[in-house]
Amino acid sequence: MRLLTVVGARPQFVKAATVSRAIAAHNSAGGVPPIAETIVHTGQHYDHNMSQRFFEEMDIPQPRYNLGVGSGPHGETTGRMLAGIEEVLQAEQPDVVLVYGDTNSTLAAALAAAKLHLPVAHVEAGLRSYNMRMPEEVNRLLTDRLSRWLFCPTVTAVKNLEREGMPAAVAVGRELQAQEVLQVGDVMYDAVLHYRDRARPSPEIGELLGRYPEGFFLATVHRAENTDSIANIGGIVKALETLSRLLPVVLPLHPRTRRALAAAGIHTDELVTIDPVGYFDMLVLLGKCRVVLTDSGGVQKEAYFFEKPCVTLREETEWVELVEGGFNVLVGADPDRIVVGAESMLCTRPSFGPQLYGDGNAATRVVQAIARYAP
Ligand code: UD1
Ligand code: UDP
Repeated sequence: MRLLTVVGARPQFVKAATVSRAIAAHNSAGGVPPIAETIVHTGQHYDHNMSQRFFEEMDIPQPRYNLGVGSGPHGETTGRMLAGIEEVLQAEQPDVVLVYGDTNSTLAAALAAAKLHLPVAHVEAGLRSYNMRMPEEVNRLLTDRLSRWLFCPTVTAVKNLEREGMPAAVAVGRELQAQEVLQVGDVMYDAVLHYRDRARPSPEIGELLGRYPEGFFLATVHRAENTDSIANIGGIVKALETLSRLLPVVLPLHPRTRRALAAAGIHTDELVTIDPVGYFDMLVLLGKCRVVLTDSGGVQKEAYFFEKPCVTLREETEWVELVEGGFNVLVGADPDRIVVGAESMLCTRPSFGPQLYGDGNAATRVVQAIARYAP
């Protein structure tokens, strides 16, 4: 079976790492049919610390194609991806196209494949914020409707799809086929289970940890609604500066956020701002921090995997079970709410008993379901 995987942005490398490993395990165990994976990188993320470092650390097979699309407006970059992926699909004629999450790379790949009547497998299907201002919400809605396999991490995701009339029919080759909606668990949980004991800090992060033995707040910010609004990014920095009087705040800066801060003329000496870190350094930081503050989807879940309370710098989340369980609190970008939320999370000890995201075998289930398909 020829499987073509399309990735492009940082979180997709983390997710794809687990499925590529499960494909290799399937093949070496004599799984039928053997699956030949070809990876296409759209080039949406391209800095070493945003891309290649993940392939090296996580031992992801190197992409056969890199479309080199880079940064730019949504329509322009998604359009370039669409054209590039279509060309690759026509050359490779895969049996299945595999996509992850909700980025522009996800949508471009799903759309290119659907127009060629190739079956699409979507890992992390069914997530919804119900906020149509988010580019990711548009990408998810469309990708889900076009996909033949909808691999859901949670029961909430399955229910979200049901509400939208899925499973429905999709065109595959000359026929119509019913979508398969499968709750498999979360591949990011698989990744943490596999890599957390292998992760060693880089010398820079090792040195940083030595400076802050009492722990620290770990913060990440990159969501468009925060970086594209001076009020929001200003409010978040103000709150983090206030919190830094309690504990140091370590902030690995997404390039988008670095640019937004520079454009807004916001300089801060009170925060420990560092370049984006690799996955291993991130796992080490998650393990050693006291509380996580983030607007990232993946980092909210990882905080939970590391049993760290999370303060989410958004007004809604796709990972509603974290809020319902008291592991996560939504505070938006308002400085007072951020400070109050972080202070209260610093004092709480949520009981991190239930495993909300599967049993660590999500990637294996994805591969098994695809292998059951006879093209
Ligand atoms: C993208 C995804 C978002 C995901 C995030 C993960 C979309 C619409 N958004 O957001 O869902 O959560 O990735 O990190 O697909 N840049 C660099 N170097 C890089 C990459 C980006 O300098 O290697 C800068 C560029 O100025 C670029 C900006 O970051 O314009 C934004 O990059 P882009 O890929 O458009 O969106 P993200 O904010 O990264
Ligand atoms: N991550 C990382 N280094 C960083 C910030 C994040 O390795 O400096 C990892 C993080 O641990 C998670 C993934 O990148 O595995 C999440 O990506 P991001 O927050 O960019 O995107 P989102 O999950 O919001 O789509």
